[in-house]
Amino acid sequence: MDTLGRLEDLPQDYRDDLTKQNLVPLWPSLRAVLPPGVPTRNTKPIHWSYAALRPLLMRAGDLTPMEKAERRVLVLANPGHGLENMKASPAMYLGMQLLLPGEWAPSHRHTPNAVRMVVEGEGAYTTVDGEKCPMSRGDLILTPTGLWHEHEHAGDKPVVWLDVLDLPIIYYAEASYGTEGQRQEVRDGRGDQAYASGGVVPTALFERSNKAYPMLRYPWAGVRDTLLALAADQPKLDVVQVTYVNPETGKDTQNNLGFYALMLRPSQALRLPARSPACVFHVIEGSVEIEIEVSTFNLSEADTCCAPGYTSVNLRNCSTEKPSFVFLADERPLHKKLGVYECRN
Ligand SMILES: [Fe+2]
Repeated sequence: MDTLGRLEDLPQDYRDDLTKQNLVPLWPSLRAVLPPGVPTRNTKPIHWSYAALRPLLMRAGDLTPMEKAERRVLVLANPGHGLENMKASPAMYLGMQLLLPGEWAPSHRHTPNAVRMVVEGEGAYTTVDGEKCPMSRGDLILTPTGLWHEHEHAGDKPVVWLDVLDLPIIYYAEASYGTEGQRQEVRDGRGDQAYASGGVVPTALFERSNKAYPMLRYPWAGVRDTLLALAADQPKLDVVQVTYVNPETGKDTQNNLGFYALMLRPSQALRLPARSPACVFHVIEGSVEIEIEVSTFNLSEADTCCAPGYTSVNLRNCSTEKPSFVFLADERPLHKKLGVYECRN
Protein backbone atom coordinates (compact mmCIF):
# COMPACT_ATOMS: atom_id res chain seq x y z
CA MET A 1 0.00 0.00 0.00
CA ASP A 2 1.29 3.44 -0.89
CA THR A 3 2.13 5.67 2.02
CA LEU A 4 0.03 8.80 1.86
CA GLY A 5 1.12 12.29 2.79
CA ARG A 6 0.98 13.20 6.49
CA LEU A 7 -0.41 16.29 8.13
CA GLU A 8 3.05 17.22 9.36
CA ASP A 9 4.31 17.15 5.75
CA LEU A 10 2.27 20.28 5.09
CA PRO A 11 3.62 23.76 5.95
CA GLN A 12 2.19 25.18 9.16
CA ASP A 13 0.90 28.35 7.49
CA TYR A 14 -1.09 26.23 4.99
CA ARG A 15 -2.54 24.12 7.82
CA ASP A 16 -3.47 27.26 9.74
CA ASP A 17 -5.20 28.73 6.66
CA LEU A 18 -7.20 25.51 6.21
CA THR A 19 -8.29 25.54 9.85
CA LYS A 20 -9.42 29.17 9.61
CA GLN A 21 -11.75 28.16 6.75
CA ASN A 22 -13.00 24.97 8.54
CA LEU A 23 -11.24 22.81 5.97
CA VAL A 24 -9.40 19.52 6.55
CA PRO A 25 -7.13 17.65 4.11
CA LEU A 26 -8.47 14.14 3.57
CA TRP A 27 -5.34 12.24 2.56
CA PRO A 28 -3.63 12.12 5.99
CA SER A 29 -6.78 10.43 7.41
CA LEU A 30 -7.89 8.42 4.38
CA ARG A 31 -6.47 5.09 5.56
CA ALA A 32 -7.98 5.58 9.02
CA VAL A 33 -11.53 6.01 7.71
CA LEU A 34 -11.15 3.39 4.95
CA PRO A 35 -8.78 0.78 6.42
CA PRO A 36 -7.86 -2.09 4.09
CA GLY A 37 -10.22 -5.08 4.18
CA VAL A 38 -11.52 -4.93 7.74
CA PRO A 39 -13.04 -1.97 9.60
CA THR A 40 -11.47 -0.53 12.71
CA ARG A 41 -13.60 -1.71 15.64
CA ASN A 42 -13.60 -0.18 19.09
CA THR A 43 -15.86 -2.94 20.40
CA LYS A 44 -13.84 -5.26 22.64
CA PRO A 45 -14.87 -8.80 23.58
CA ILE A 46 -16.21 -8.27 27.13
CA HIS A 47 -17.82 -10.59 29.68
CA TRP A 48 -20.13 -9.31 32.43
CA SER A 49 -20.58 -11.86 35.21
CA TYR A 50 -24.01 -11.73 36.82
CA ALA A 51 -22.59 -13.03 40.11
CA ALA A 52 -20.16 -10.09 40.13
CA LEU A 53 -22.63 -7.37 39.13
CA ARG A 54 -25.65 -8.53 41.15
CA PRO A 55 -24.39 -7.33 44.58
CA LEU A 56 -23.62 -3.91 43.07
CA LEU A 57 -27.08 -3.73 41.53
CA MET A 58 -28.70 -4.70 44.85
CA ARG A 59 -26.63 -2.04 46.58
CA ALA A 60 -27.99 0.51 44.11
CA GLY A 61 -31.41 -0.49 45.49
CA ASP A 62 -30.24 0.59 48.97
CA LEU A 63 -28.41 3.70 47.82
CA THR A 64 -30.85 5.18 45.32
CA PRO A 65 -34.62 5.19 45.76
CA MET A 66 -36.76 4.92 42.64
CA GLU A 67 -37.78 8.59 42.74
CA LYS A 68 -34.09 9.49 42.44
CA ALA A 69 -33.41 7.03 39.64
CA GLU A 70 -36.60 6.69 37.57
CA ARG A 71 -34.86 3.70 36.00
CA ARG A 72 -32.41 1.97 38.40
CA VAL A 73 -29.89 0.60 35.92
CA LEU A 74 -26.24 -0.37 35.86
CA VAL A 75 -25.06 0.00 32.27
CA LEU A 76 -22.92 -2.78 30.81
CA ALA A 77 -20.43 -0.49 29.12
CA ASN A 78 -17.73 -1.64 26.74
CA PRO A 79 -14.40 -0.01 27.70
CA GLY A 80 -13.40 -0.08 24.03
CA HIS A 81 -15.97 2.66 23.44
CA GLY A 82 -15.14 4.52 26.69
CA LEU A 83 -17.25 3.65 29.73
CA GLU A 84 -18.82 7.12 29.77
CA ASN A 85 -20.34 6.53 26.33
CA MET A 86 -22.48 3.66 27.68
CA LYS A 87 -22.23 1.44 24.62
CA ALA A 88 -21.82 -2.32 24.41
CA SER A 89 -21.24 -1.95 20.66
CA PRO A 90 -21.72 0.81 18.06
CA ALA A 91 -25.52 0.38 18.06
CA MET A 92 -26.29 -1.52 21.27
CA TYR A 93 -26.77 -0.31 24.82
CA LEU A 94 -27.09 -2.92 27.59
CA GLY A 95 -28.30 -2.28 31.13
CA MET A 96 -29.22 -4.42 34.13
CA GLN A 97 -32.29 -2.91 35.74
CA LEU A 98 -33.54 -3.54 39.28
CA LEU A 99 -37.11 -3.15 40.48
CA LEU A 100 -37.83 -3.82 44.15
CA PRO A 101 -41.15 -5.10 45.54
CA GLY A 102 -43.80 -2.37 45.51
CA GLU A 103 -41.87 -0.08 43.21
CA TRP A 104 -43.17 1.59 40.08
CA ALA A 105 -40.93 2.87 37.30
CA PRO A 106 -43.11 5.64 35.86
CA SER A 107 -44.57 5.77 32.39
CA HIS A 108 -42.45 7.27 29.66
CA ARG A 109 -41.72 6.87 25.98
CA HIS A 110 -38.71 7.61 23.86
CA THR A 111 -37.33 7.42 20.35
CA PRO A 112 -34.80 4.60 20.95
CA ASN A 113 -36.21 1.07 20.63
CA ALA A 114 -35.86 -1.15 23.69
CA VAL A 115 -36.39 -4.75 24.71
CA ARG A 116 -36.01 -6.36 28.08
CA MET A 117 -34.92 -9.92 28.82
CA VAL A 118 -36.07 -10.96 32.28
CA VAL A 119 -33.14 -12.24 34.37
CA GLU A 120 -34.63 -13.04 37.77
CA GLY A 121 -37.72 -12.62 39.93
CA GLU A 122 -41.46 -13.03 39.54
CA GLY A 123 -44.45 -10.76 39.99
CA ALA A 124 -43.43 -7.72 37.95
CA TYR A 125 -45.28 -6.31 34.96
CA THR A 126 -44.32 -4.05 32.12
CA THR A 127 -47.27 -2.19 30.67
CA VAL A 128 -46.58 -1.27 27.05
CA ASP A 129 -49.09 0.72 25.02
CA GLY A 130 -51.78 -0.30 27.53
CA GLU A 131 -50.88 -4.01 27.36
CA LYS A 132 -49.95 -5.48 30.75
CA CYS A 133 -47.09 -7.95 30.15
CA PRO A 134 -46.13 -10.34 32.99
CA MET A 135 -42.37 -10.72 33.45
CA SER A 136 -40.85 -14.17 34.04
CA ARG A 137 -37.29 -15.41 33.58
CA GLY A 138 -36.34 -15.46 29.91
CA ASP A 139 -39.38 -13.53 28.66
CA LEU A 140 -38.63 -10.98 25.96
CA ILE A 141 -40.75 -7.83 26.15
CA LEU A 142 -40.61 -5.15 23.49
CA THR A 143 -40.92 -1.44 24.10
CA PRO A 144 -40.56 -0.14 20.54
CA THR A 145 -39.94 3.48 19.58
CA GLY A 146 -42.66 5.87 20.69
CA LEU A 147 -44.72 3.43 22.77
CA TRP A 148 -45.56 4.32 26.38
CA HIS A 149 -44.11 1.89 28.93
CA GLU A 150 -43.90 1.56 32.70
CA HIS A 151 -42.80 -1.15 35.12
CA GLU A 152 -44.53 -2.28 38.28
CA HIS A 153 -43.65 -4.96 40.83
CA ALA A 154 -46.28 -6.79 42.87
CA GLY A 155 -44.00 -9.67 43.96
CA ASP A 156 -41.95 -10.03 47.13
CA LYS A 157 -38.38 -10.41 45.81
CA PRO A 158 -36.24 -8.19 43.58
CA VAL A 159 -36.82 -8.36 39.83
CA VAL A 160 -33.92 -7.84 37.45
CA TRP A 161 -33.93 -7.61 33.69
CA LEU A 162 -31.47 -6.92 30.90
CA ASP A 163 -32.37 -3.91 28.77
CA VAL A 164 -31.16 -3.90 25.16
CA LEU A 165 -31.58 -0.61 23.30
CA ASP A 166 -30.46 0.88 20.00
CA LEU A 167 -29.75 4.07 21.97
CA PRO A 168 -26.16 4.60 20.67
CA ILE A 169 -27.21 4.78 17.02
CA ILE A 170 -30.29 6.92 17.74
CA TYR A 171 -28.19 9.24 19.90
CA TYR A 172 -25.52 9.40 17.17
CA ALA A 173 -28.25 10.39 14.72
CA GLU A 174 -29.19 13.25 17.11
CA ALA A 175 -32.67 11.75 17.30
CA SER A 176 -32.77 10.56 20.94
CA TYR A 177 -35.30 12.08 23.33
CA GLY A 178 -37.91 10.97 25.85
CA THR A 179 -41.30 12.12 27.16
CA GLU A 180 -42.71 11.63 30.66
CA GLY A 181 -46.30 10.43 30.96
CA GLN A 182 -49.15 9.41 33.21
CA ARG A 183 -49.98 5.93 34.46
CA GLN A 184 -51.50 3.99 31.54
CA GLU A 185 -54.99 2.55 31.32
CA VAL A 186 -54.64 -1.19 30.91
CA ARG A 187 -56.64 -2.52 27.95
CA ASP A 188 -57.75 -6.02 26.95
CA GLY A 189 -56.00 -7.90 24.19
CA ARG A 190 -52.51 -9.25 24.68
CA GLY A 191 -50.39 -10.05 21.65
CA ASP A 192 -48.84 -13.09 23.33
CA GLN A 193 -52.33 -14.58 23.56
CA ALA A 194 -53.48 -13.55 20.07
CA TYR A 195 -50.34 -14.98 18.46
CA ALA A 196 -49.84 -17.89 20.88
CA SER A 197 -49.95 -20.54 18.17
CA GLY A 198 -47.37 -20.39 15.35
CA GLY A 199 -48.77 -20.31 11.83
CA VAL A 200 -52.12 -18.64 12.55
CA VAL A 201 -52.89 -14.96 13.16
CA PRO A 202 -56.06 -13.15 14.26
CA THR A 203 -58.20 -12.27 11.25
CA ALA A 204 -61.40 -10.35 12.07
CA LEU A 205 -63.69 -10.52 9.02
CA PHE A 206 -60.73 -11.39 6.79
CA GLU A 207 -58.72 -8.36 7.92
CA ARG A 208 -55.28 -8.66 9.50
CA SER A 209 -53.87 -6.42 12.21
CA ASN A 210 -52.28 -3.21 10.96
CA LYS A 211 -50.34 -2.63 14.18
CA ALA A 212 -46.64 -1.99 13.68
CA TYR A 213 -45.88 -4.04 16.81
CA PRO A 214 -48.67 -6.62 17.20
CA MET A 215 -46.79 -8.82 19.68
CA LEU A 216 -45.02 -7.22 22.64
CA ARG A 217 -44.25 -10.21 24.88
CA TYR A 218 -42.49 -13.41 23.80
CA PRO A 219 -42.81 -15.85 26.72
CA TRP A 220 -39.68 -17.91 27.28
CA ALA A 221 -41.63 -21.09 28.01
CA GLY A 222 -42.93 -21.12 24.42
CA VAL A 223 -39.58 -20.27 22.84
CA ARG A 224 -37.82 -22.95 24.92
CA ASP A 225 -40.43 -25.56 23.91
CA THR A 226 -39.97 -24.59 20.26
CA LEU A 227 -36.19 -25.06 20.45
CA LEU A 228 -36.55 -28.43 22.19
CA ALA A 229 -39.13 -29.57 19.64
CA LEU A 230 -36.90 -28.47 16.75
CA ALA A 231 -33.94 -30.35 18.24
CA ALA A 232 -36.00 -33.50 18.87
CA ASP A 233 -37.59 -33.45 15.41
CA GLN A 234 -34.26 -32.96 13.62
CA PRO A 235 -31.60 -34.85 15.59
CA LYS A 236 -28.95 -34.06 12.93
CA LEU A 237 -29.70 -30.33 12.83
CA ASP A 238 -26.43 -28.52 13.65
CA VAL A 239 -27.90 -25.15 14.57
CA VAL A 240 -31.01 -25.06 16.74
CA GLN A 241 -31.81 -21.36 16.55
CA VAL A 242 -34.89 -19.17 16.20
CA THR A 243 -35.43 -15.49 15.44
CA TYR A 244 -37.93 -13.34 17.31
CA VAL A 245 -40.19 -11.93 14.58
CA ASN A 246 -43.22 -9.76 14.09
CA PRO A 247 -45.88 -12.47 13.57
CA GLU A 248 -47.76 -10.37 11.00
CA THR A 249 -44.80 -9.63 8.74
CA GLY A 250 -42.31 -12.39 9.59
CA LYS A 251 -39.67 -9.66 9.76
CA ASP A 252 -37.53 -8.61 12.72
CA THR A 253 -39.44 -7.45 15.77
CA GLN A 254 -37.78 -4.04 15.75
CA ASN A 255 -36.14 -1.59 13.38
CA ASN A 256 -32.43 -1.79 14.14
CA LEU A 257 -31.62 -4.76 16.36
CA GLY A 258 -32.25 -8.46 15.82
CA PHE A 259 -33.07 -10.94 18.59
CA TYR A 260 -32.57 -14.70 18.58
CA ALA A 261 -32.56 -17.75 20.85
CA LEU A 262 -30.12 -20.60 20.42
CA MET A 263 -30.03 -24.05 21.97
CA LEU A 264 -26.76 -25.91 22.27
CA ARG A 265 -27.12 -29.66 22.70
CA PRO A 266 -25.11 -31.31 25.49
CA SER A 267 -21.36 -30.84 24.74
CA GLN A 268 -22.17 -29.21 21.39
CA ALA A 269 -19.58 -26.88 19.88
CA LEU A 270 -20.75 -24.36 17.30
CA ARG A 271 -18.85 -21.83 15.21
CA LEU A 272 -20.71 -18.66 14.29
CA PRO A 273 -19.37 -17.11 11.08
CA ALA A 274 -17.67 -13.71 10.94
CA ARG A 275 -20.51 -11.28 10.23
CA SER A 276 -20.40 -7.50 10.03
CA PRO A 277 -22.63 -6.69 13.06
CA ALA A 278 -21.56 -6.87 16.69
CA CYS A 279 -23.37 -9.51 18.73
CA VAL A 280 -24.42 -9.87 22.37
CA PHE A 281 -24.85 -13.21 24.14
CA HIS A 282 -26.84 -13.76 27.34
CA VAL A 283 -27.09 -17.23 28.88
CA ILE A 284 -30.66 -18.02 29.92
CA GLU A 285 -29.99 -21.57 31.02
CA GLY A 286 -26.87 -23.72 31.34
CA SER A 287 -23.22 -22.76 30.91
CA VAL A 288 -21.42 -21.84 27.72
CA GLU A 289 -17.79 -21.28 26.79
CA ILE A 290 -17.46 -18.45 24.28
CA GLU A 291 -14.26 -17.84 22.34
CA ILE A 292 -13.96 -14.44 20.65
CA GLU A 293 -10.63 -13.64 19.01
CA VAL A 294 -8.01 -14.21 21.75
CA SER A 295 -10.54 -14.08 24.62
CA THR A 296 -12.27 -17.13 26.08
CA PHE A 297 -15.14 -16.56 28.52
CA ASN A 298 -17.00 -19.10 30.61
CA LEU A 299 -20.55 -17.87 30.90
CA SER A 300 -22.80 -19.10 33.69
CA GLU A 301 -26.54 -18.51 33.84
CA ALA A 302 -27.47 -14.83 33.53
CA ASP A 303 -23.98 -13.86 32.30
CA THR A 304 -23.67 -11.58 29.29
CA CYS A 305 -20.90 -10.93 26.79
CA CYS A 306 -20.40 -9.10 23.53
CA ALA A 307 -18.37 -9.69 20.40
CA PRO A 308 -17.29 -7.14 17.79
CA GLY A 309 -18.36 -7.53 14.18
CA TYR A 310 -16.25 -9.17 11.45
CA THR A 311 -15.05 -11.89 13.82
CA SER A 312 -16.14 -15.50 14.16
CA VAL A 313 -17.31 -16.75 17.55
CA ASN A 314 -16.92 -20.27 18.93
CA LEU A 315 -19.55 -21.49 21.38
CA ARG A 316 -19.44 -24.68 23.43
CA ASN A 317 -21.99 -26.09 25.83
CA CYS A 318 -20.01 -26.96 28.97
CA SER A 319 -22.57 -29.55 30.09
CA THR A 320 -22.34 -33.12 28.86
CA GLU A 321 -25.89 -33.83 29.98
CA LYS A 322 -28.12 -30.80 29.59
CA PRO A 323 -28.82 -28.36 26.77
CA SER A 324 -27.83 -24.71 27.19
CA PHE A 325 -29.99 -21.83 26.00
CA VAL A 326 -28.60 -18.50 24.85
CA PHE A 327 -30.34 -15.23 23.97
CA LEU A 328 -28.60 -13.22 21.26
CA ALA A 329 -28.98 -9.62 20.13
CA ASP A 330 -27.22 -8.11 17.13
CA GLU A 331 -27.17 -5.17 14.72
CA ARG A 332 -28.15 -7.22 11.65
CA PRO A 333 -31.36 -5.28 10.76
CA LEU A 334 -29.42 -2.00 10.91
CA HIS A 335 -26.57 -3.37 8.77
CA LYS A 336 -29.12 -4.71 6.25
CA LYS A 337 -30.78 -1.29 6.03
CA LEU A 338 -27.42 0.41 5.64
CA GLY A 339 -26.53 -2.08 2.89
CA VAL A 340 -23.29 -3.12 4.65
CA TYR A 341 -24.34 -6.52 6.04
CA GLU A 342 -21.73 -9.21 5.38
CA CYS A 343 -21.27 -12.82 6.33
CA ARG A 344 -17.70 -13.90 5.57
CA ASN A 345 -17.92 -17.49 6.85
FE1 LIG B 1 -37.84 3.33 28.70
